[in-house]
Amino acid sequence: MTGTAPTLSVRNLAKRYGEATVFAHVSLEVATGEFVAIVGESGVGKSTLLNCLAGLDTWDEGSVELCGQDLSALGDDQRALLRRRSVGFVFQAFHVLPHLDVAQNIALPLMLLQQRDEARVEKMLGAVGLQGLGTRLPQQLSGGQLQRVAIARALIHKPALLLADEPTGNLDPATAQKVMDVLLAQTREHGASLVLVTHSEAAAARADRVLLLTSEGVTTKR
Ligand SMILES: Nc1ncnc2c1ncn2[C@@H]1O[C@H](COP(=O)(O)OP(=O)(O)OP(=O)(O)O)[C@@H](O)[C@H]1O
Ligand SMILES: [Mg+2]
Repeated sequence: MTGTAPTLSVRNLAKRYGEATVFAHVSLEVATGEFVAIVGESGVGKSTLLNCLAGLDTWDEGSVELCGQDLSALGDDQRALLRRRSVGFVFQAFHVLPHLDVAQNIALPLMLLQQRDEARVEKMLGAVGLQGLGTRLPQQLSGGQLQRVAIARALIHKPALLLADEPTGNLDPATAQKVMDVLLAQTREHGASLVLVTHSEAAAARADRVLLLTSEGVTTKR
């Protein structure tokens, strides 16, 4: 890890299922603290790309460097450790664990790093507007509240990179804006980079850069 390496550096990435190419020639860099939005048609491979960036999926060509480390050069354990330390992920479906309460869901990344920090969990609950709801189960929350649980969980361990897949997808515009406010405030508070996949023009408008993903690669929209 060096101070000058971009948080994320993707070169000529290609992903195929058998004969079918999802995308190819995908190259992009994300600087420390930068907010990049990725847009593109449904099915073009945005979620697949995010999974590759997190080292959760494999690819067929090209390379992904996270915090200066080439993911392909790492063994499974090292890659998992780098991901746990350096990446927060807000999934397109929230993936909150139904049997854990809100505070336990948020604390999960800390647990995986064998850390405990109840004060930080409490602070995070407040920061995302869920103070007092830590002992509720996910089924007792609204969609917007669940989305904020997912955001708090993705940022609790202060990752260098936050990957967020449609974090405001199912929300009304006012709630979506509030969720984006929380997401950006928390990301900026500790200088994390943010890669946001979104169909929302309002959300993309807040990014430093907007990239369009097509099957042939990424182009800069703005
Ligand atoms: N296991 C698989 N085998 C074959 N094709 C797959 C598999 N998983 C995903 N795909 C295909 O890969 C493509 C990319 O899917 P992905 O979920 O990444 O799209 P997306 O851009 O995130 O779409 P959306 O905007 O609807 O979320 C899709 O065309 C999908 O059908
Ligand atoms: Mg998707």
